[in-house]
Amino acid sequence: MGAGIAEVFARAGLRVIGVEADEAALSRGRGHLEGSTGRAVARGRMTAEEQAALLGRIAFTTSRDDLAGADLVVEAIPEVMEFKRGLFADLDRICKPSAVLATNTSSLSVTAIAATTSRPAQVIGMHFFNPAPVMRLVEVVRTVVTEDGLPDEIAGLARRLGKTPVTVGDRAGFVVNRLLLSYLNHACALLETGLASRDDIDAAMRLGVGLPMGPFTLLDLIGLDTSYEVCEVLFRESRERRHAPAPILRELVTAGLLGRKTGRGFHSHDRDAPETAGEPGGRPEISLVGLVGGGPDAATVLEALEAAGFKAAVAEPGDLTPVAEADVVVALSDTPVVELAVRLPRPERLVGLHLVGERVAEVAATVVTSREAAETVRDLVRMIGRTPVRCGDRAGFVVNALLYPYLNDAVRMLEAGYASAADIDAAMRLGCGYPAGPFEMLDAIGIERVRDGLRALYAEYREPSFAPAPLLDQLVTAGVPGIRAHVG
Ligand code: 3HC
Repeated sequence: MGAGIAEVFARAGLRVIGVEADEAALSRGRGHLEGSTGRAVARGRMTAEEQAALLGRIAFTTSRDDLAGADLVVEAIPEVMEFKRGLFADLDRICKPSAVLATNTSSLSVTAIAATTSRPAQVIGMHFFNPAPVMRLVEVVRTVVTEDGLPDEIAGLARRLGKTPVTVGDRAGFVVNRLLLSYLNHACALLETGLASRDDIDAAMRLGVGLPMGPFTLLDLIGLDTSYEVCEVLFRESRERRHAPAPILRELVTAGLLGRKTGRGFHSHDRDAPETAGEPGGRPEISLVGLVGGGPDAATVLEALEAAGFKAAVAEPGDLTPVAEADVVVALSDTPVVELAVRLPRPERLVGLHLVGERVAEVAATVVTSREAAETVRDLVRMIGRTPVRCGDRAGFVVNALLYPYLNDAVRMLEAGYASAADIDAAMRLGCGYPAGPFEMLDAIGIERVRDGLRALYAEYREPSFAPAPLLDQLVTAGVPGIRAHVG
């Protein structure tokens, strides 16, 4: 991340001194910079001369003393408070009195870091996102003792770097990591419960919701050690069990599988590793497909099945007689379907189906669904041009179980007065490349649907934070059509 931040400053024409702990780390950092700018040259985004000039603006050293003349220092060392305190005490001694000391901490208290210096008013958070040259957000974190005017000055600098600043107070995880890591940790927890596989969860969120990466790919990008530490900090502040780092994170971190930076985390990042072969999808050997449910999704599936030459029988959930003899019964639903299955003469033939966006369909197997029925429905899903996501028959399946609590957390953050809806939306779009911010998503999905989905999740998992935020509940009760129009 340090190399990425150095690149951002150098790209904007500023001179940078890159300090690393030792020669090996320094040469890795230099390698990152050469690789990243080299890619830009190869893609025609930069000329070789511009690359040389950019790299020429960066001096590499292992001596902190070389920072004596710097106007601004941005710290990006591992997320261990003891290391940060030691470094800031050193920087305070080395740097000129007017220098501003910034931390790129992901979630640690900027106030606590500032307190280790004799210039706490000149210490500020300047939080970049991975990969720093690409992600457009910078969270500017002010503390209660930050000098007046400094946040604006740093925000102005962020703009000069081509970034969009969002200024926030010093709370664990700030805006983005507080929302993002809660969601990523929740994805780990769902994986651990066996609800769905790593790849199915990744596909559901990437293809279904349109996020640039699935949660496990993103955890690998952030680094599992950093992710673990952020969750730990969130937990220390909130004392909520869901923020406690998922055990699988600890296991992987202990094994040294930290994600991209070590070549393996949830995924293997070895370029030579063979790609896993896609599952073969044949045409299912069935003569009659039963379809339960109405609405536009049922019409879409029916049309696609008939276009593919399958005979279909349709039933409403209240009367399943028309589908009793079908070879496989597809129940279109965004809630668990086992109660439908047990009303059929052959419950093992029923599979839940939930269309998500334009590209994904969640295929929910109940505890009695046969392997053949689940495979048949996955093949049917592929035939209608969607990616099947296999999952258990639990409230919210995969997508809503992950998305709705994240949206609820955003409403709670707004309710707590930590940031405005517009800032939270901008932070998630620019910091994580999300296609829309949480409030934009709430309005697109409909606040009542999200509130009801959260109620169902709460009823199933009994996780207190899944209970709809009072603000969300009240806006639905008041009948307001959208959240953004109401909260401004
Ligand atoms: N360094 C520099 N540039 C990079 C890069 C890197 N590591 N990775 C990708 N890029 C550039 C590419 O060169 C390309 O540039 P171009 O458009 O000028 O040619 C551009 O980014 C797009 O790259 P690709 O086409 O190779 O790949 P994708 O389109 O898949 O995009 C991605 C890659 C930008 C990483 C995208 O997947 C994404 O936005 N992912 C989400 C990342 C995210 O959520 N980050 C925030 C994490 S939280 C955090 O960092 C906070 C911390 O405190 C934990």
